[in-house]
Amino acid sequence: MLEKNSRVRIAMQKSGRLSDDSKKLLTRCGIKINLQQKGLIAFAENMPIDIMYVRDDDIPELVIQGVVDLGIVGKNVLKENFLNRKEKLKKNLYNILCDLDFGTCRLSLSIPLNVKYCNIQYFQNTRIATSYPNLLKNFLDKKKIQFKLCSLNGSVEVAPRLNLADAICDLVSTGATLKENGLYEVETVYISSACLISRLGKMSIFKENIINKLITRIQGVIKARESKYIMLHAPISKLDKVVSLLRGAENPTILKLANDKTKVAMHMVSSETLFWETMEKLKNLGASSILVLPIEKMME
Ligand code: PRP
Ligand code: ZN
Repeated sequence: MLEKNSRVRIAMQKSGRLSDDSKKLLTRCGIKINLQQKGLIAFAENMPIDIMYVRDDDIPELVIQGVVDLGIVGKNVLKENFLNRKEKLKKNLYNILCDLDFGTCRLSLSIPLNVKYCNIQYFQNTRIATSYPNLLKNFLDKKKIQFKLCSLNGSVEVAPRLNLADAICDLVSTGATLKENGLYEVETVYISSACLISRLGKMSIFKENIINKLITRIQGVIKARESKYIMLHAPISKLDKVVSLLRGAENPTILKLANDKTKVAMHMVSSETLFWETMEKLKNLGASSILVLPIEKMME
């Protein structure tokens, strides 16, 4: 029988840079969530997992307080939360279970396009708008720069136009938001990507098993995304040279060809994609029928 509260609760960003990739990751892990659900909580149909859609900034506290078991969150948000804590609480209040391969971005200082930038001294006594006051202060303190904080929770990028600030310190991913707002990046404060965290404290064996299963699947999805299946026909006389060009490929399978005794077919999983340059070199060695295929799932 299932114990009470035996469903694993995962918090993820409701709307923002991480939302789509977080949902896609769980889908690729085989978790069927009703994506139409607009409410705070969605239920997985085929696994004992519930999803809470929240503001990304709230995720660390939801995990720390044990409201949810897991959280998909940017390291930028974790670091800001950490720096914001009182000194005595600066210990591990959650576990980082694994790094995720999305949500890559940087927290940057940006200024209006019509302003010339020489060096960090530019920021001396300026007004800077940000939702990351602690990361910003930590960075500028080290450079001995004093600044006036303009703390905003959203739409930080409009602050210079409204003359609320001279610069902003905000996340940049594609750079589209900066471009739309006539700003450009001048300093990188922090580099970030998404990760999966879990709460501390005892969990039931049942929950632990679900979480372990999920981690294995997540790692499989990431590994599969990074890997390629490569097939080609290679001349037997050049096999060593062909293999040396295929770095990242382990133990290729070698098969005979029906009507060609000079070549063999090679199949392999490579941890790297095959670049056009390498494909051209393989071709020059006499390889043919070179195919690079994506891998959907992987378990080792
Ligand atoms: C960040 C940031 C910008 C946007 C930048 O928002 O505040 O709005 O992403 O991305 P771009 O360079 O691709 O345009 P986030 O998704 O973290 O949402 P939030 O700030 O509302 O939490
Ligand atoms: Zn946010």
